[in-house]
Amino acid sequence: MKLGVPREVYPGERRVAATPDTVRQLVAMGFEVSVEAGAGAGARMADADYAAAGATVVDGAREIWEHSDLVLKVREPQAHPALGVHEADLLREGGRLISFLWPATQVDLVERLRSRRATVLAMDQVPRITRAQSMDALSSMANIAGYRAVVEAASRFGRFFTGQMTAAGKLPPARVLVIGAGVAGLQAIATARAMGAVVRAFDTRPAVREQVQSLGGECLEVPVVEEGEGKGGYAKEMSAAFIEAEMALFRAEAPSLDIVITTALVPGKRAPLLWTRDMVEAMRPGSVVVDLAAEQGGNCELTQPGEVAEHAGVQVVGYTDMVSRAATTASQLYAQNVLNLVELLGGGEGFHIDLTDEIVRGAIVLHEGEVLWPPPPKPVPPPAPAKPAAVAEAPGPVASATAAAPVAGKAHGGAERSASSAPARGGSGWWVAIAMAALWVALRTYAGTLPASQALADFLQHLTVFVLACFVGWQVIWNVTAALHTPLMSVTNAISGIIILGGMLHASHGLGSPDALLGAAAVFFAAINVAGGFLVTQRMLRMFRR
Ligand code: NAI
Repeated sequence: MKLGVPREVYPGERRVAATPDTVRQLVAMGFEVSVEAGAGAGARMADADYAAAGATVVDGAREIWEHSDLVLKVREPQAHPALGVHEADLLREGGRLISFLWPATQVDLVERLRSRRATVLAMDQVPRITRAQSMDALSSMANIAGYRAVVEAASRFGRFFTGQMTAAGKLPPARVLVIGAGVAGLQAIATARAMGAVVRAFDTRPAVREQVQSLGGECLEVPVVEEGEGKGGYAKEMSAAFIEAEMALFRAEAPSLDIVITTALVPGKRAPLLWTRDMVEAMRPGSVVVDLAAEQGGNCELTQPGEVAEHAGVQVVGYTDMVSRAATTASQLYAQNVLNLVELLGGGEGFHIDLTDEIVRGAIVLHEGEVLWPPPPKPVPPPAPAKPAAVAEAPGPVASATAAAPVAGKAHGGAERSASSAPARGGSGWWVAIAMAALWVALRTYAGTLPASQALADFLQHLTVFVLACFVGWQVIWNVTAALHTPLMSVTNAISGIIILGGMLHASHGLGSPDALLGAAAVFFAAINVAGGFLVTQRMLRMFRR
């Protein structure tokens, strides 16, 4: 099967849909790959590297489009400036295309491609489900945009991000606000924190609070309680009262901020207007606003898409090509996302469109000229049978996160959060502890009525330790936030080490006795815990190593 990679023609676009590395893998999958000369130049990928990876480097877009069974692209087909034709018309009859497409707004383009009886998969329509994560180009690109937004802000901001104590005086850290903590926002928070800034964030979805805190950001909150999560976990449009409260919060924050990065977006809607002219004016001269939602209308009133505007000494960056400004990394990630989708489709030898596959069905826009977008809504699962009262009353982590009522205009830290949610999550633990304490009191009272016996005294002592261990252990575990589970693993390793010592002491009492057998069993199970703990801890630590 012939696969072609043309050069992107959109002005300023530097990304490419395949890298020499992915070309090598495409060739191994059985494709005959052609790459247009200069296709990778903007991403610093040389024609010679493509040729070395097994591609044929072709001079001219027409050859690529007309002779390929499958075309891989970044941007949706455009009018070709050099050839004077639309790229969609260059696609051969019955050809296949994988690229960003935005079918909701590109109605004419879809019609053009339909008339070519094309089969088209849109990278922007790959469903955001776990199995499709390796094909999620939107997240890959938003991740880069979030990083790049901070880099742009830092290069325009006249001060350090990190606070410093120097011989010449004290430099305060930059104060950053990130509005919208989706993929781009979270990456912006992580990058700004890594550069030493003090970062605050606001999002309408309560589910992101823990993620913001685990990256070292503080969450701002409004006094209006409203669920910000809509269908499929995506953001929903908020009420006017909520937006008003949100803007009042921003207005109060504005004078203390140096950098504002806005990424707020509700799928399928114009970006909400959240950072107004008076907020820009309230910021100190030299401050920077980076509006990532510029292409969707902008979150800032003064944003000019594609430009940097200046007002009252504040720069408002409205670039719509943030991703293209990091073209090498963006191309690597995008090309890998596309490669993973091509692999799902069967590669060069077994290429087929399986419409029963959820990912293919979500991403496909046209199949042999038939418009298949939008995909049918997923069937709603039947309501779950009512849970027994005790289970229904104990909220899980998600429910407790949603239930946490916002506090007026106040940032809250991790300790506050865990303190407020822990009793709810540990509700059943309290009952176990109370039951054990009652049993202990009853046994102590009963023991007082019996003649003194060493065995009974020993038993009561062990029971006391056991009850306390259960109570304290339960409380300790439930109060640990998810982000600290790895260090917790190390603590349990230490405890398991003590158990191993105790088990070895008992096992040495003489083989065959129940004491020794129980000791050996304790050693065995604690050893599993220790080994597993080390493995998991190492794996987690590897994720943070550079
Ligand atoms: P996303 O959908 O993952 O995140 C958007 C976030 O905004 C969500 O967490 C949502 O809850 C939040 N939000 C919605 N309404 C809000 C409100 N009123 N107040 C506060 N938060 C609110 O989107 P993603 O992938 O993180 O992208 C963010 C933005 O960056 C989008 O506008 C996207 O188009 C843009 N982008 C821009 C690029 C550029 O070159 N300028 C490149 C890639 C993405």
